[in-house]
Amino acid sequence: MNDSRFPDQFITTVRERSDLISVVSQYVTLKKSGQSYAGLCPFHSEKTASFVVNPVKQIFHCFGCGLGGDVFQFLTKIEGIPFPEAVRKLAMVNGISMPAGASSHHGGAKARLSDQMIGLNEEVAVFFHQNLLKRREGEEARAYLKARGMTLAAIEAFMIGFALPRWDDLLTHFGKKYPLSLLEGAGLISKREASEGFFDRFRNRVLFPIRTQQGIVAGFGGRVLDASQPKYLNTPETAVFTKGKHLFGLDRAKGMGGTLVVVEGYFDAISAHQAGMSNVVATLGTALTQDHLSLIQRLAKKVTLVFDPDEAGVRAALRAAPLFIERGISAEVISLPPGEDPDLFVRKNGK
Ligand code: UTP
Ligand code: MN
Repeated sequence: MNDSRFPDQFITTVRERSDLISVVSQYVTLKKSGQSYAGLCPFHSEKTASFVVNPVKQIFHCFGCGLGGDVFQFLTKIEGIPFPEAVRKLAMVNGISMPAGASSHHGGAKARLSDQMIGLNEEVAVFFHQNLLKRREGEEARAYLKARGMTLAAIEAFMIGFALPRWDDLLTHFGKKYPLSLLEGAGLISKREASEGFFDRFRNRVLFPIRTQQGIVAGFGGRVLDASQPKYLNTPETAVFTKGKHLFGLDRAKGMGGTLVVVEGYFDAISAHQAGMSNVVATLGTALTQDHLSLIQRLAKKVTLVFDPDEAGVRAALRAAPLFIERGISAEVISLPPGEDPDLFVRKNGK
């Protein structure tokens, strides 16, 4: 079946995330008929509707000409394109990033760089995670997370990590395996100003991998363990990370029943997930962007904003609410008592 070079899992994801009804509707006028939808077959000439699409099974079948299949088969036939191109098209429409390695024979240098960066980021996430859990120097970070109520299950689920308090831990570990230009391009190391060489961007910080909806590690956010500044340091703009495009926790946002809860911070989102609310995502402190809204629009009919009860949080919520309404998503704002934030509130009061 999979006569492309894409991994099977990727094909499955694209199939699952595509909606056959909406794809077919771009070519055929469909009418609901019982559990299914019916219309005039686009593959042969007919006057009565014998072309049927089943929204549950996500397959089509024509009782006239006998053609049938899934969303890929529909697109390859109707557009006359090869299978990999249909996959690529549907991935793009659904905002699914191409898997590492997949686009190298197709997408040119830029796509190849993104693929390499994604692969690197995934390895780096594992590296930071091992630092946190296994290394002696991770002790302080482990204690910090424990003190903030984070369970081991959550640490593992979100693959939370730690960058050791050294200038070259990541550099030493990955510099042998990857070109320094790639490490620098991924925002993991920076050039020294005064002398030759590079140094690690993330040092002595708890690290949160920031994943796309498909689970690809786009970048990292790192928090200090004390009161030093900046409190959070994120991956800079890279080929695969753009500030204002990501929602932390989205890859694990399941069973949303049409409602998505939006909070501001990493800890807010994780506390909620820990308490059994997995339909919670975080904006990472930026104002909601049109990119965020597009992402949310595909997933939710209703949004609940829970921003910090400070002036900035209230202002952000009031600014965001009409943007949702404009897109036909209903929005509500939950205001917490002064001095609370979603993280503290959930830990104190539970789900
Ligand atoms: P907050 O300052 O509200 O942090 O920023 P927080 O999540 O409650 O942090 P804790 O509880 O003190 O650890 C909300 C979010 O804004 C982003 C982070 O994503 C943070 O989670 N942020 C904040 C930054 O990117 N940089 C900063 O310096 C501060
Ligand atoms: Mn907080």
